Amino acid sequence: MSAEVKTARVTVPQLRARKGGEPIACLTCYHAHTARLLDPLVDLMLVGDSLGMVMHGMENTLGVSLDLMILHGKAVMRGSNHALVVVDMPFGTYEESPQIAFRNAARVIQETGCTAVKLEGGARMAETIRYLTLRGIPVMGHIGLTPQMIQVMGGFKTQGRTQAEWPALEADAAAVAEAGAFAVVLEGMAEPLAAKITKQIAIPTIGIGASAACDGQILVMEDMLGLNPSPPKFVRQYANLGPDIARAVRDYVADVKARRFPGAENTYPMRKDAAE
Ligand code: KIV
Repeated sequence: MSAEVKTARVTVPQLRARKGGEPIACLTCYHAHTARLLDPLVDLMLVGDSLGMVMHGMENTLGVSLDLMILHGKAVMRGSNHALVVVDMPFGTYEESPQIAFRNAARVIQETGCTAVKLEGGARMAETIRYLTLRGIPVMGHIGLTPQMIQVMGGFKTQGRTQAEWPALEADAAAVAEAGAFAVVLEGMAEPLAAKITKQIAIPTIGIGASAACDGQILVMEDMLGLNPSPPKFVRQYANLGPDIARAVRDYVADVKARRFPGAENTYPMRKDAAE
């Protein structure tokens, strides 16, 4: 057992109360090691279904299963004790009916121990968001560019860049907030619309490619660390770990081939009392 001090996790009411206050810092997280690093620093970690693409090399998020989300959700929970952990509901596990959504979301909460789930969709998902929230499952909404709709949208397309698109997106935001979501992700959204929605609704907006006007921000951790060779325009890279990893691996391979690794400091001698 480590002597780690247990701190109380950020709660849903605490996060919701940050509306209009100090900006909320969120990152995606998929495994225990990185959870330990992020946990004391961020307010919220999202086990996003983007893990299908980032961790598993899938072309989009549509092939991600509930079991996979639960596996990664458990890992992130084991590596954290402070940040609010939200796990994404993957495609096909919540759209059919509020009852099916409840059964699957309850599995996520019970098996991972996470606090909340996130699901994509605005007005069309309001009934489900209300159903889950009233039954004890906190929900984070996700509107704008919703990657699970990629086949309908014909690609990853920024939303709200013409005024004609605004009313539907504003209605989505209002519906999600009124249904009881505690926060909503605005993804790939033109700045003036994101700013307007942030003013209009009572819950925090968490932007990804939706400008600094939002109440908080989220990025895919691997994107901001420089592990994605072609990140989207909205990503700021805070480190460039890709080349660092390649250099470290090149050095390791060279050391192995030259028998410089392992060195004496990495080698186990015989115990003194056993050596003759
Ligand atoms: O799956 C994910 O990582 C997400 C974020 C991009 C918000 O939904």
